[in-house]
Amino acid sequence: MRFGVLTGGGDCPGLNPAIRAVVLRAARAGHETIGYLDGWKGLRDGRSRPLTPADVLGLIGRGGTILGSSRTNPFRSEEEAAKVDRQLAADRIDALVAIGGDDTLSAGRALAGRGGKVVGVPKTMDNDVAGTDWTFGFHSAVAVAVDAAERLRDTAESHHRALVLEVMGRHAGWVALATGLAAGADATLVPEEPYDEARFLERVRAAAQLRGYALVVASEGIDLGARRGATGGKDEFGHELLGQRQVGAELAARIEAGCGIESRSAQIGHIQRGGPPELFDRILATRLGAAAVDLALAGRFGEVAVLRGPVIAGIPFAEALRAPKLLSPDWLDLLHTFEP
Ligand code: F6P
Repeated sequence: MRFGVLTGGGDCPGLNPAIRAVVLRAARAGHETIGYLDGWKGLRDGRSRPLTPADVLGLIGRGGTILGSSRTNPFRSEEEAAKVDRQLAADRIDALVAIGGDDTLSAGRALAGRGGKVVGVPKTMDNDVAGTDWTFGFHSAVAVAVDAAERLRDTAESHHRALVLEVMGRHAGWVALATGLAAGADATLVPEEPYDEARFLERVRAAAQLRGYALVVASEGIDLGARRGATGGKDEFGHELLGQRQVGAELAARIEAGCGIESRSAQIGHIQRGGPPELFDRILATRLGAAAVDLALAGRFGEVAVLRGPVIAGIPFAEALRAPKLLSPDWLDLLHTFEP
């Protein structure tokens, strides 16, 4: 068989280990793999490179993706979709492994719907793909955010300030929640809960009274209502670029105005997406990449490899895409247990 593999959407730690697993699992069964460059865009435009075991052996600890990525969806136009069909035939691809988040997987579902032999691997630092317990990229990104929060705490404590850390995560609060819990933040704001300014400022005041400073973690996706900050532009999939709204800076200004506490903010942005994958992400990406090959070898096209408890399973694209996975009330309850 000839496998094709691509990585789409925002990069995150774990993509390279997943590519490595696909190539090596396929090679072990006697099959070859080519990699499409820059996600669906490279497949549409016929840009690929061979991937031999030697090309991927050293990728287990490398961040980013050696294949490049893009936020391109060729299935929005029949003309471009037909180009994808033709390219797969020209390259004699028997099985395509699409590694990505909601957008990349929805393109995979479209290809499967027109008879394409495709399987999916979920990834995203946002951890918002339904049907899988965790996505790789998340743990590594949160480790970076926790490190940032702990550094900000030092300054907050030294200067008796409120420090606000703004993290990514789009419309799901997983990154903020895990960062807030692991760094012991005094207030963590997530998109799943409506912003309540009086309650928020009360928490900051209480923390400042209790220990002389306050540490706040805010998800980029929260809605602060009327604000001074700009609204975000859009990416190629039509998603608002939430980081451009700078909610962290806005919160710091509101703390100063509302509590009279000197405040600063930091937006760590794409720093969360780079760097080597953490242990959990290396293992998860490896398991999912290998499982995707196994699904294809078993003829289970149209499925996505996912983590369910301790087990890797295959589920239909539609199930993995049914709705973004958001924070449940029990997570929110746990989070607020530790806030003043
Ligand atoms: O989906 C991953 C993510 O990092 C989001 O958390 C963030 O909102 C978005 O991508 C940023 O996208 P870009 O890299 O296009 O600025």
